[in-house]
Amino acid sequence: MSTRTEAQPRIRLHKPEDFVKMRKAGQLTAQLLDILVEETRPGVTTATLDRICVEFARDNNAIPATIGYRGYKYALCTSINHVVCHGMPNDKPLVEGDIINIDVTLIVDGWYGDSSRMVNVGRVSRSAERLVEITYECLMRGIEVVKPGAHLGDVGHAIQSHAEANRCSVVRDFCGHGLGEVFHDHPNVLHYGRPGEGVMLKPGMFFTIEPMINLGKPHVKVLSDGWTAVTRDRSLSAQFEHTIAVTDTGHEIFTLSPRGLHCPPYQF
Ligand code: MF3
Ligand code: CO
Ligand code: CO
Repeated sequence: MSTRTEAQPRIRLHKPEDFVKMRKAGQLTAQLLDILVEETRPGVTTATLDRICVEFARDNNAIPATIGYRGYKYALCTSINHVVCHGMPNDKPLVEGDIINIDVTLIVDGWYGDSSRMVNVGRVSRSAERLVEITYECLMRGIEVVKPGAHLGDVGHAIQSHAEANRCSVVRDFCGHGLGEVFHDHPNVLHYGRPGEGVMLKPGMFFTIEPMINLGKPHVKVLSDGWTAVTRDRSLSAQFEHTIAVTDTGHEIFTLSPRGLHCPPYQF
């Protein structure tokens, strides 16, 4: 027997024509990330990256989803080193050794493409490089298990077990999310969990997977600006995000890089 409660609302099952819309939104988002990762280097400010995003959106009939979202003012989130997520672009130049997550959401014809990647700014420490690699592997291991009949707990478990096998930790305070014609929809996509638990996946579900992985402990605090989330122990944190669909046979990634710039080291 199953019941539908406030805690488990219906998850929209999208139609083939909706996939066409999401491919367009996802590809434009990924194209923009290709540009942003190439522009990211020592001396560049995150405000400059934000301006590139605003101009790209304007020139491509897209809307940056985060401007005006719950009072957020920027087109990007730029989360550097121990910033877990929701770092705000500013005029401070990036310095060699930084690791930065660039997270962008574009609305194209009413549909949301949401993706983020890490960039290593110049040469970075071996531990930073390793965290970035493991985090990318966590995202892809989570995606690999997505198919009809699998459960969201399988996704969380795949991510958590890989992170913890590498002595890293999974942030619990933020999760992935359903999306489509809305930005943050059901279901919540946890990046930890147990096989067989949680929502069962069905063809036509659209959601993000966006694990935040820390070198130290998983605990997070939000700074007094109300947005910037940092690791409590100030350890490094990394994140990658894709927007994906459940298909009849498995999954489709909407936000794959057109230029193959999936993860560092990027070959331009
Ligand atoms: N792009 C983020 C996500 O992955 C959301 C950022 S909301 C903001 O869901 F307001 F902080 F920009
Ligand atoms: Co997201
Ligand atoms: Co995002």
